Amino acid sequence: MEFAFDLLLCSCIFLLCFFGFLFFPRKTNRRLPPGPVGLPFLGSLLELGNKVNESLYSLSKIYGPLMTIRLGMKTVIVVSSAKVAEEVLHKHDRDFSGRSVGEAAKTLDHYKHSMAWLPAGPRWRELRRFCNTEVFSSKRLDALRGLREKKVEELLQHVQAASADGCAVDIGRCALVTALNIVSNTFFSKDVANLEHGVAAQELKDLVGGIMETAGRPNLADFFPPLRLVDPQGVRRAMTGFFQRMHELFDAMIEERLQAYAAASSVRTDDFLDVLLQLGGKPGSEYTMDVLKSLFMDMFVAGSDTTSSTIEWAMAELLHHPGKMAALRSELKKFIGDGRPVEEADIPQLAYLDAVVKETLRLHPPLPLLLPHESEDTVELCGYTIPGGTQTIVNAWAIGRDPQAWEDPVSFSPERFVGSEINYKGRDFKFIPFGAGRRICVGLPLAKRVVPFVVASLVHRFSWKLPDGMTPEQLDMDDMFGLILKKRVPLKVVPALNF
Ligand code: HEM
Repeated sequence: MEFAFDLLLCSCIFLLCFFGFLFFPRKTNRRLPPGPVGLPFLGSLLELGNKVNESLYSLSKIYGPLMTIRLGMKTVIVVSSAKVAEEVLHKHDRDFSGRSVGEAAKTLDHYKHSMAWLPAGPRWRELRRFCNTEVFSSKRLDALRGLREKKVEELLQHVQAASADGCAVDIGRCALVTALNIVSNTFFSKDVANLEHGVAAQELKDLVGGIMETAGRPNLADFFPPLRLVDPQGVRRAMTGFFQRMHELFDAMIEERLQAYAAASSVRTDDFLDVLLQLGGKPGSEYTMDVLKSLFMDMFVAGSDTTSSTIEWAMAELLHHPGKMAALRSELKKFIGDGRPVEEADIPQLAYLDAVVKETLRLHPPLPLLLPHESEDTVELCGYTIPGGTQTIVNAWAIGRDPQAWEDPVSFSPERFVGSEINYKGRDFKFIPFGAGRRICVGLPLAKRVVPFVVASLVHRFSWKLPDGMTPEQLDMDDMFGLILKKRVPLKVVPALNF
């Protein structure tokens, strides 16, 4: 009898605790947006699955375009419509311009110096100002046009050699080497990767790919901070290896330049490493070696895989839709004709090409959840109260496929952008592959030139055939979630020289 009473009492206490736990977060966070209750302790972690962008999209269909989701010990808000994105990235741009820094970005104190991870304070502003005026201004980019044309010509020569041998070309790999070399020449006047000699290129590709993949993987230590000490998935360990190797590379470039200064006893001022080293040499300068290395890391990591993945998806969509490929080819023939290569200066006149790239970015934004924003202080948003320090995810992938914003949203139809006013500047919130507001991608002016230029050059110079008798319908168009939304199966196609 006594035992039965104890059991009953224990059961009551257990049930009280259980339901108390379930309802506690709702009661205290009454003014947070709605969202799934999730499991005790884990929250909705198990619901994220392998394709986080798609899982969040599905949940938003139940809970709405502004949703709260509990992931372990962390509360996150998720934005899934153009209207709410406008509230967050425009109306409350300043309030949400913080960054939620995961464990991966803390490797070797990267986040303390990195433009991508610093809070939007004076040091971040200074780095953005430097990049906007010294690296990505029209004047600076125009000055380096010849260099980019040279790198694209090298890519075309590489593809031409493959076409002579009848070999398939791995588009993503080639585009990545080109993107890496464009970034490295912009800063160091030097290639870091080589299309012909696979080893260095492969190592860099692996490093950048490894960083992206590791940083994009949901990390338990981000959701359960006490686990930071144990690093249960080895994220910190893996990132430390990648970062150390990248730092060695940058150290070697900087050392080489310093030795060149010593030997010539004069300073060249025609690339950004020179400018940065001069700034760094000034007393009290904020451009310490750590800052320089974080800046280079940001540029290589944020600027290469995003660019090459977009090129790969654009080519894949064109091969999957031969009619669109024909339409682009015909535009290139009309404006450029056979016999001369595409030049970067041709790009602004090619409206269909522009539409192809935009449509590719709508369906396959390389950063499907942008980078994680964070509310700086408590904010009133759409009638809810978002506490300061809340991670804020904008699902750009879902917004690009919202049937209320786009007709027939999953079909690849560049025509929807022809004659449309929508641009990349993040003013139309249904199309934000580069983000919007003060945290919009700083490398946008470079990406806007490189992606269409490479796609146009590949399509103009070569005809492309899928390998092994594969039909366009059979081409695998599945993606793989990470920080970058990549093609699951790399695109390999056989080129034939047009002229
Ligand atoms: C197709 C190419 C690219 C796409 C789609 C892209 C997209 C993005 C997105 C979505 C963000 C985050 C915006 C946000 O959090 O709201 C971002 C940030 C950033 N991007 Fe890009 N990007 C591309 C190319 C580049 C290039 C070429 C560079 C530099 C060489 C670059 C450097 C950066 C940096 C440094 C940030 C962090 C900015 C900050 O937090 O202030 N990106 N990019």
